[in-house]
Amino acid sequence: MPRVERLLEELSNAHGPSGSEGPVRKIVQRELAPLCDELETDGVGSLIARLGEREGTPRIMLAAHMDEVGLMVRYITPEGYVKFQGLGGVLDQALINQRWAIVTGKGVVYGVTGIKTTHVMTVEARTQLFRREQMFIDVGASSKQDAEERLGIRPGDPVAPDSKFMALNGSKVYLGKAWDDRAGVGVMIEVMRNLRGRAPKGAVYAAATVQEEVGLRGAHTSTYKVHPDIGINLESGVAGDYPGTNMDEAQEKLGEGPGLFLHDSSMLPNLKLRDFVLDVARELEIPVQFNVLAGYGQDGSEMQRGFGGVPVINLTVPTRYLHSHNGLMHRDDFDRAVALATEVVRRLDGPTVEGIRSFEQS
Ligand code: CO
Repeated sequence: MPRVERLLEELSNAHGPSGSEGPVRKIVQRELAPLCDELETDGVGSLIARLGEREGTPRIMLAAHMDEVGLMVRYITPEGYVKFQGLGGVLDQALINQRWAIVTGKGVVYGVTGIKTTHVMTVEARTQLFRREQMFIDVGASSKQDAEERLGIRPGDPVAPDSKFMALNGSKVYLGKAWDDRAGVGVMIEVMRNLRGRAPKGAVYAAATVQEEVGLRGAHTSTYKVHPDIGINLESGVAGDYPGTNMDEAQEKLGEGPGLFLHDSSMLPNLKLRDFVLDVARELEIPVQFNVLAGYGQDGSEMQRGFGGVPVINLTVPTRYLHSHNGLMHRDDFDRAVALATEVVRRLDGPTVEGIRSFEQS
């Protein structure tokens, strides 16, 4: 398998619900260590790589979150069933009858969210939705003691979707559980690889953040460490190209280029930076899609609000079926996002950043 596909497979398969990003951090650390001048973590576990001088300006910050939506062990019933707390926004309907990986101190324990057998349900009950309060994970334990002692499950242990990467039927469409935001993490790694030896003046920081899905927490703390002059958030976008969605809900389509967000509930992008990115994209002949979402939220907004305000954009790899066991992205969108972000960063020299930051009339 070619290198980038293998990296994306590894990133998607890694277990990293919010607050337990360790396995992802290990991969990012391994990839970024040879590409940067310094690696450090913030106090909650975000990994920050610096390329360039410590006091160099401008300070360009890239961010992508390592965590994925998942669950956390709430308690174990006397019979050995695992009750859970959700981490991040997932539909109750996406939780039922799925495979899960509980990451315990003793290793990974697999289980399923059981589903009530249709044979014992009334006709009326068969058309109702299952609510998460009714759900539990069956790990095949015989009792609470068995689950605790033999399997090593403890309250607070993270629970990740168990779903493996696949290039779907030999296409460039990649199936995976965690493109939000391992797609962005992958883009960030490849951009840093491209910049190695050809970095712009100043310093580029790549922040692989934690706990985005529960409230953009790692972006808050890592922005504080970086003190950026300008920021680019790298995220999974929201594709609206499947039955039942429309342009008013989401505009991105798989295979038609990286996305640029113009609105989400957490941030308005800097429009000078938008124009700069579009100019570079036109020159490179990379198609760019826009997206305007009523909801959503992303790490860029934490960068934007740091240190008196920072120009930021959110650049995406369009993704279908976010926040579920099985998401889809397109490899061409990934490669074009890498190419575009690389060239944008390379051209963000001091005067350019100053111009984008300025609100004086010209
Ligand atoms: Co995300």
